[in-house]
Amino acid sequence: MTKAIPYGRQNITPEDIATVIETLQSDYLTQGPKIAEFEEAFANYIGCKYAVAVANGTAALHLCTLALDVAKGQKVITTPITFAASANCIRYCDGEVVFADIDPETYLIDYESVKKLLEASPMGTYQGIVPVDFAGRAVDLEKFRALADQYNLWIIEDSCHSPGGYFVDSKGNQQNCGNGNFADLAIFSFHPVKHIACGEGGMITTNDEKLYKKLLMLRTHGIVKSEDLYTNSIEFAGGDTQYPLWYMEMQQLGFNYRLTDFQAALGLSQLGRADAGIIRRRAIAQKYNNSFQGKSFIKGQSGAIEGHAYHLYIIEVEDRLGLYNFLRTQNIFAQIHYIPCHLMPYYRGLGWKEGDMPEAENYYRHCISLPMYPTLTEEEQQFVIATILSFYEMAK
Ligand SMILES: Cc1ncc(COP(=O)(O)O)c(C=O)c1O
Repeated sequence: MTKAIPYGRQNITPEDIATVIETLQSDYLTQGPKIAEFEEAFANYIGCKYAVAVANGTAALHLCTLALDVAKGQKVITTPITFAASANCIRYCDGEVVFADIDPETYLIDYESVKKLLEASPMGTYQGIVPVDFAGRAVDLEKFRALADQYNLWIIEDSCHSPGGYFVDSKGNQQNCGNGNFADLAIFSFHPVKHIACGEGGMITTNDEKLYKKLLMLRTHGIVKSEDLYTNSIEFAGGDTQYPLWYMEMQQLGFNYRLTDFQAALGLSQLGRADAGIIRRRAIAQKYNNSFQGKSFIKGQSGAIEGHAYHLYIIEVEDRLGLYNFLRTQNIFAQIHYIPCHLMPYYRGLGWKEGDMPEAENYYRHCISLPMYPTLTEEEQQFVIATILSFYEMAK
């Protein structure tokens, strides 16, 4: 039996381990210098002004909906083909999730479906959109920004799958996922199967200074430590002519969503290999594309896609269950991304039902994510390809 081949996995090098140990031996375990270093390096990598490191991608989404003041009953649009957290962050603030169907060619939230929703209701019905750069493919946010401006909406870009991904705008410029040129806020995850692994971890990026400051406060319980922001008096605080050094104020209901310094050290070290990782992911995708080109069992996407960060390599196939089970017998652990979010029992309980998102539901019947990670060897990938081809040969 060959070694197990998962659909995704982290790569931890001796340098990663050394830098974590060094940080563990330093004076700071949480919110030390590595956090600021990681935030700065990540902002540079993405090409945005500000980055806020947080505990995980879900916390990042929650902080974004808090910072944008999502409130009870407010409607926000997102895609059903995503991890549930992209929608759940709206529910955390008691907002209402409205799903818009996907484009069957790109698997991304469909611009026309969003437009139709907006046109069908009076202005002010919707507050925002959460587009997802699903699988590593960038949403064309230039188009969505124009629509959002027309309807006075904010955009939270869920870029968990796409650090290093980009789209090309109408002027021919490369627009990196999360660069803040179109979205108000963008978020990333550093879960082990993602491009950059921190164990758990996340990042919010933005070009908006006001939102940035709000995020910093909400990340740490809603606490501020700055004289010009205090509302209690110096006298109350226990000072004479100025606030004493120990003083701080909790001004909003925030959370403890901080990342630790040793996770930030790991993230920094991993960030140094991010470009190499994308190059390898694109080479793996190219090899899959070449191997599956023209095969009749493939229903969906294959072919080179500019700017794709290939967190996932997805194909749509006939007899998806048969293939999935056969791969498991060969120790290849493919995965399905995603069970449509609107049909999760929780969202069914809120009124969503089968037939609401026909493209997403049809995609779900056929999709399968193949092994895709930088340390996947040529031999392993060849074995995956040969196993898939043999499954369909046998079926003939
Ligand atoms: C698209 C998407 N959004 C949000 C998340 C949540 O990130 P985390 O697992 O770091 O909380 C994930 C992670 O799986 C994701 O894939």
